[in-house]
Amino acid sequence: MPCRACGDAVTQFLDLGRQPLSDAFRIPDDPSDEFWLHLRAVVCHGCHVVQLADPVPVERMFHEEYPFRTSSSRRMASHFAATAERLVAGLESPDPFVVEIGSNDGTMLATVAARGIRHLGIDPAANMVDEAVARRVNARAEWFDATTAARVRDEFGPADVVYAANTMCHIPDLRGVFTGLETVLADDGVVVFEDPYLGDVLRLGSFDQIYDEHFYLFSATSVARIAALHGFTLVDVEHLGVHGGEVRYTLARDGRTPTPAVGALIATEDRTGTHDLPRLQAFAAGVADRREQLRDVLMDEQQAGRSVAGYAATAKSATVLNYCDIGPGLLPVVYDTTPEKQGRTTPGSGIPVEAFPQDLADYPDTFLLFAWNHADEIVAKEQEFVERGGRWIRYVPEVRID
Ligand code: TYD
Repeated sequence: MPCRACGDAVTQFLDLGRQPLSDAFRIPDDPSDEFWLHLRAVVCHGCHVVQLADPVPVERMFHEEYPFRTSSSRRMASHFAATAERLVAGLESPDPFVVEIGSNDGTMLATVAARGIRHLGIDPAANMVDEAVARRVNARAEWFDATTAARVRDEFGPADVVYAANTMCHIPDLRGVFTGLETVLADDGVVVFEDPYLGDVLRLGSFDQIYDEHFYLFSATSVARIAALHGFTLVDVEHLGVHGGEVRYTLARDGRTPTPAVGALIATEDRTGTHDLPRLQAFAAGVADRREQLRDVLMDEQQAGRSVAGYAATAKSATVLNYCDIGPGLLPVVYDTTPEKQGRTTPGSGIPVEAFPQDLADYPDTFLLFAWNHADEIVAKEQEFVERGGRWIRYVPEVRID
């Protein structure tokens, strides 16, 4: 398949094998067939965006039982409150209008709504839209595309800001999204979006950032090139520490001068060979090594008679569990705070997901930290576990136990 963003030719550099849908937690003993896809990453020769080689079934992925809730991390909730304050502070028109694509449970827009600013959240996950509406956020269960964008503009007028967090990379039909942005954005409006950053994935070897929902892995270079195809300029970039390293991209209609940060990040990407095949192939070789190391650590714990549990049934963990062939035999349980995941089993790997034990005495000896991107928040919360000798297995940026 040619590049979904620009139509140019692509080359494969990573094969993560047969994978389930990462957020499709299963009811135990569900007799229905599980959906599998072949997870392979390719890089485009034209715009340089990294993307999945094979199509993903978006209707099966984002629906009224979508289990990811933005507010499940306290740090992310405060990140989005601060983001909203910044977006609001930058609004200049007398009656501004803010659109969020992928508004989930309304964590970001709740702050915008509380300031009395006109806004609209658009998200196909109807259950999360209901939660947003319960927070007094104006949100609709819809897909963002050219048709929706035209309807929104007719109803509300042009948007001063279109914001998206961990959403643009989820949408294979990026051209449809950009056509929608061309329609809905005010002439002097901005598109601001943040997603996992290819440079960080390569630097940390965080291969679990690659799964069905992360169809694209962006960089400043690729975003600038894709934006240019649609009459937009990448006018600012900001590196963020959240979710294991993201970049926030700001786009405006052509004519605005980019900040020096844009040229600087593109120059760094050139210098470090971010989109070059040898660099990407070296990353892939490191991923294969990590599989063996992680399995060895788990087998050592088992042989030493130490109990291990997974910490957080993240979407990312689907890639790790299925690529490393880790099932209930090596990891008997994964604990997670999300009610919708508890009582189910992890996709593909069939490991029971349970609520965290109430009593520390029921904790395992060792946790395999799947939510490594929230490590600071989690380690702070689990002080007592560490104090009584509990250990963490990590696999980013390398496999280690401490
Ligand atoms: P996250 O890394 O934010 O996302 P993703 O699923 O996209 O990889 O992980 C979210 C999951 O982690 C969610 O199921 C809730 C769980 N979680 C906990 O169980 N405990 C915690 O302290 C945190 C921060 C998350």
